[in-house]
Amino acid sequence: MNRRQFLINTLLAMGGISLLSACEEQNKKHLPARKGANMKVLMINGSGHEKGCTYTALSEVAKVLNQEGIETEIIQLGTGAYRDCIGCQACRKLNGRCVFNDDIVNSIIEKAEQADGFVFGSPVYYAHPSGRLLSVLDRAFYAGSAAFAFKPGAAVVSARRAGTTAAIDVINKYFTINKMPVVSSSYWNEVHGNTPEEVLQDKEGLQTMRNLGKNMAWALKMIDEAKNGGLNPPEQESGSRTNFIR
Ligand SMILES: Cc1cc2nc3c(=O)[nH]c(=O)nc-3n(C[C@H](O)[C@H](O)[C@H](O)COP(=O)(O)O)c2cc1C
Repeated sequence: MNRRQFLINTLLAMGGISLLSACEEQNKKHLPARKGANMKVLMINGSGHEKGCTYTALSEVAKVLNQEGIETEIIQLGTGAYRDCIGCQACRKLNGRCVFNDDIVNSIIEKAEQADGFVFGSPVYYAHPSGRLLSVLDRAFYAGSAAFAFKPGAAVVSARRAGTTAAIDVINKYFTINKMPVVSSSYWNEVHGNTPEEVLQDKEGLQTMRNLGKNMAWALKMIDEAKNGGLNPPEQESGSRTNFIR
């Protein structure tokens, strides 16, 4: 290589490097300011099977959230007995806590206060979510709705065959009465199977779970960006509460 050729090659290489760094700078502008740091999604498994089908679905969502840098925790309701809400209104005087302090509900409310998003999972029982999940959520939301408000939520259900969308509708109603954005996926958030092994064969179900994880991460990052930019949840009107007799 002669001196002239050497100089041309060197200049081309330098130009290439500066072009590369310009591209890198440009790419950085499109990266999210936060990669999910310090964000947490609280998940509840409403099945008595700790490592069953619902857990398999929730784990697939969690895997993607973790890849996005978002922490996850799966709370297992297990096989314990859960009292239903008795409508005693004691929670109104208990600063957002349920009067029954002997099970997981108050600890769920405490964890919800610290969480940024929620995924509630359940097996389908007679075309609805499990009774234990509903008993827990009725009490957690009646006593501690503020802990969940304005945070995104998603329902996940597992069924052998049918009743999934009816069950999803029931879970979504906790979100839609409580100012919570509902996170969806590329199909309704359901997997099919009677065993975890069968769920693992439900390729579309698992894909739906992964897309749900991506969409939940996106929702959380958007909300975070909005807050950082000074856009906070809107003030709510209150005062009018009319029963049908008025
Ligand atoms: C009491 C009961 C009712 C059920 N009802 C339905 C149903 O309505 N539709 C359905 O497809 N599967 C039904 N199943 C099957 C479960 O929904 C299914 O096996 C689910 O994937 C189990 O999830 P898990 O392993 O997380 O408990 C029912 C199971 C039980 C125990």
